[in-house]
Amino acid sequence: MYAQMVDTGVKAVQAAADMTADEKAFQARIDADIRVEPKEWMPEAYRRTLIRQISQHAHSEIVGMLPEGNWITRAPTLKRKAILMAKVQDEGGHGLYLYAAAETLGVSRDRMVDDLHAGRAKYSSIFNYPTLTWADIGTIGWLVDGAAIMNQIPLCRCSFGPYARAMVRICKEESFHQRQGYDIMLALARGTPEQKAMAQDALDRWWWPSLMMFGPPDAQSVHSAQSAAWKIKILSNDELRQRFVDQTVPQADYLGLTVPDPELNWDAERGHYDFGPIDWAEFHNVIKGNGPCNRERLRTRVKAWEDGAWVREAAMAHAEKRAVRAAARVAPPAGADGGERTARVDAMA
Ligand SMILES: [Fe+2]
Ligand SMILES: [Fe+2]
Repeated sequence: MYAQMVDTGVKAVQAAADMTADEKAFQARIDADIRVEPKEWMPEAYRRTLIRQISQHAHSEIVGMLPEGNWITRAPTLKRKAILMAKVQDEGGHGLYLYAAAETLGVSRDRMVDDLHAGRAKYSSIFNYPTLTWADIGTIGWLVDGAAIMNQIPLCRCSFGPYARAMVRICKEESFHQRQGYDIMLALARGTPEQKAMAQDALDRWWWPSLMMFGPPDAQSVHSAQSAAWKIKILSNDELRQRFVDQTVPQADYLGLTVPDPELNWDAERGHYDFGPIDWAEFHNVIKGNGPCNRERLRTRVKAWEDGAWVREAAMAHAEKRAVRAAARVAPPAGADGGERTARVDAMA
């Protein structure tokens, strides 16, 4: 899944005249498409913006496991169950790559998790909607992972090395996710009238929240200009949204489903689909924590973290024990190896 950028607090592009020598050299390297690596000097605002973006992205992957995880036990066939388990597990992996990428900027995993659990950190608003039927699993793969790919492919060229490299691998997996979702939709759309109605109902409920995934309109997006100058954000929210609509409407047509937007219209002159207004009041309400599932999602994450405390403690204790042993280890005297091996064979006999 992907990071839905809300306000990063960086409001305007810094003018060259206001830059220090370090900042000028940094911007020149970005302009020349040279990747920034963790140990190199970077402006504090660049670091903060990236920590915010990458951690939001990581949280989205981890929280995004929940709506689909709900359906693993109810998948209609063994094959669908195996595919869905692999998909949800991939999302967990995406979260881990991204937490690791954010850690290279000097923020700890514990701090990021704490921010999420305390409600200080954001994650993509889409995961605060419920998954009511099996068709929702198809729709999430098709639309939500489809939107993720649209957003993430440009991020493979992002200026920060660890983030860009994580994106390359994540995008490969997202494209499998999108295809598995579309395959579910295809099966339902070609199934019984009830199955097709279920697919249509899921599209009706997920279409608009999927368009909201790209974030507020460019005109209201306060962070975009500086993020674009730093090559943290390559394409604007509105550009990405338009690309998504243009790509997805023909896919809905192929399924024989109707996109729930009476204003949807192919504009031959523009070469794009026109679409109706998005309910931004709903978006801001969900972002603020008032979506249908915000509280449930956070409760589930906090419980999982608390239930897993013993695993983290055991892993830490094991790592400490190994470190102590490694420090205490001295070179064995000649012949000791053979003796040890003999003793082990004796013990097994
Ligand atoms: Fe993902
Ligand atoms: Fe995905």
